[in-house]
Amino acid sequence: MSVIGTGYLGTAHAVGMAELGHAVIGMDVDREKIAALSACEVPFFEPGLTELLRKNVEAGRLRFTASYDEVAADADIHFVCVGTPQLPGALGADLRWVESAFTELSARLTGPALVVGKSTVPVGTARRMAEVVRRHAADGARVEVTWSPEFLREGHAVEDTLRPDRLVFGVASARGERLLREVYRPVIEHHCPVVVTDYATAELIKVSANTFLAMKISFINAIAEICEAAGADVLPLAAALGHDERIGGSFLGPGLGFGGGCLPKDIRALLACASELGLGDVAAFLHQIDVINLRRRTRVVDAGREMLGGRYAGRRVCVLGAAFKPGTDDVRDSPALAVAQAVLDEGADVVVHDPVATGGAARSHPRLRYAGTLAGAAKDADLVMLLTDWTEWRGMDPAVLEPWVRERTIVDARHALSPSRWRSAGWNYRA
Ligand code: UDX
Repeated sequence: MSVIGTGYLGTAHAVGMAELGHAVIGMDVDREKIAALSACEVPFFEPGLTELLRKNVEAGRLRFTASYDEVAADADIHFVCVGTPQLPGALGADLRWVESAFTELSARLTGPALVVGKSTVPVGTARRMAEVVRRHAADGARVEVTWSPEFLREGHAVEDTLRPDRLVFGVASARGERLLREVYRPVIEHHCPVVVTDYATAELIKVSANTFLAMKISFINAIAEICEAAGADVLPLAAALGHDERIGGSFLGPGLGFGGGCLPKDIRALLACASELGLGDVAAFLHQIDVINLRRRTRVVDAGREMLGGRYAGRRVCVLGAAFKPGTDDVRDSPALAVAQAVLDEGADVVVHDPVATGGAARSHPRLRYAGTLAGAAKDADLVMLLTDWTEWRGMDPAVLEPWVRERTIVDARHALSPSRWRSAGWNYRA
């Protein structure tokens, strides 16, 4: 089988499929990526992935190419895993990579094949891609198009690919379902539930799942605003809500809110879809998820300014965290970097530290300064801002920072620290 597009999703999927026992060719038009992967180097940080890549390359089950001709000739199952970023200056997704992958591949298909779209796409795309295949594939080639969205989380790509909590098959025929069940047999045998449905529903399942997660976070952050205004504590409130199994405790962590390459883009794409369908109230509802989320960033910047007595200008600020969440080096739409940049723009001298993400951060935010160590970032700081909740920082002892900082002042934007411990050590602590 082939996996077209070896970005984050494609690389994890190619490695996962090889680990399940399939012979896999990963394909990308970016020759640098292909060269790195062929040398068993994963071009991003993802726990466990490099080891599994090497294991499967060495076992002869996994190889990489930049040639569509090669994948069309050597594989009869093709997964399309290319990116669908947000269009610049618009809410919708940029589908140019999906369109070119389907066009280039199908123009080379001459015999029976299964094409599985995995990219997150607006509803209606799978049907359009099936038409593209019909137009471009050889007459009588019997190419089946299906859509099977991917739900993996960054930082957990390996376990989510090998043991997903559900599989969704968007199909147009019984043959499509049969072929997908065959491909995923080792996963299904491990009691993974399968939802078989039409293209449009499969496409919407993915964006609805991400929107629901985003909504939970914005919900608890909206309640956090009420708690703050009313003198209540959102942490025990969230814990109490989470004990109700109809609600569930995950994604109820209040704080700086969500970022990354998926949640923000997917709520905006669904909002664009609702607007196009003339569903104004639905669009307004979805828009508020985004509004509440982005306001958290402003709120954290305001909190820091208040703690510094009203001005950032001329002050040293230590920012802990650059990745959009712990466990990844991904800085796309990172709330941490948005806050750091806003503080810099107000005239502070900002130094950022992150265990793995400063390389990517320096490319996207070149005006910020970066330190390779916690001490380097904290040196002479008037304010510390903890913005990404890396596990190694959770429950941190204030003594770790005390030798370096000028002022004992900290904003804990992820509720990662113990307030009583920091306050009793003489810190001006705010979460
Ligand atoms: C998400 C979905 O979880 C995944 O199923 C989908 O395939 C891709 O999008 P990911 O982007 O890796 O995965 O991030 P996720 O773990 O969902 O976290 C998203 C953001 O929400 C992060 O910025 C995180 O810090 C934030 N978050 C999460 C909160 O602010 N509070 C919480 O309680 C949980």
